[in-house]
Amino acid sequence: MGILSIKDVSKTYQSGSRKLTVLDQVNIEISEGESIAIVGPSGSGKTTLLGLCAGLDSPSTGSVILNGNAFEKLTEDQRAAARSRDVGFIFQNFQLLPTLTALENVMVPLELKKRKDAKSKAIELLEKVGLKDRMTHYPTQLSGGEQQRVSIARAFANEPKILFADEPTGNLDTETGEMIEDLIFNLNKEQGTTLILVTHDPELAKRTDRIIHIKGGKIQEESHG
Ligand SMILES: Nc1ncnc2c1ncn2[C@@H]1O[C@H](COP(=O)(O)OP(=O)(O)O)[C@@H](O)[C@H]1O
Ligand SMILES: [Mg+2]
Repeated sequence: MGILSIKDVSKTYQSGSRKLTVLDQVNIEISEGESIAIVGPSGSGKTTLLGLCAGLDSPSTGSVILNGNAFEKLTEDQRAAARSRDVGFIFQNFQLLPTLTALENVMVPLELKKRKDAKSKAIELLEKVGLKDRMTHYPTQLSGGEQQRVSIARAFANEPKILFADEPTGNLDTETGEMIEDLIFNLNKEQGTTLILVTHDPELAKRTDRIIHIKGGKIQEESHG
């Protein structure tokens, strides 16, 4: 079995008297170390799918099995523990904690794991993403590209088995976006992480092993990256 199995997953929302099917019987098998792009029009269910895969949300029906654990069989606490152990997440809008410095933001997941070397590990990661001289800056004092580099350092701090990135370059100019892509792919290789990213950018999708096309909550086709 792979690192992530998505089996017959559907997600519906009730809006008034209408039932909205956002994901419809999705099946995906992902092997350890693979990189995958999920592409599709706006509103096709990409972010919803990523949230279900990361255990941030639960499917209406079906099963998500991450690293051998079926999320639906875990308690909320166990799910949080599995996320903290196995999952890294990078968002389009960075989602750094505004009251913490760059260094403190990267230290959060390490401290949650009670790692004694949280500070030195966080410094090492920030150096890797080229932010050695920005460690004590707060998110508002950083450019978009710099904030995304902090969030990459934070995501890799846990040495996650699987990294999810939801349009990681969507809010960045082309040049900065390319630098962010390189960082993600390089760290991915270095740590042997499985990578699942959502993107609108065909050039970014081409850098992955597999491209999954989704439309109206259904997988349309799969192609090679
Ligand atoms: N919490 C929610 N309640 C109701 N509808 C939602 C909710 N979250 C997402 N949706 C709807 O689900 C659809 C898919 O959304 P999303 O997964 O964010 O798409 P994408 O990331 O591909 O743009 C959209 O029509 C959106 O409006
Ligand atoms: Mg989205």
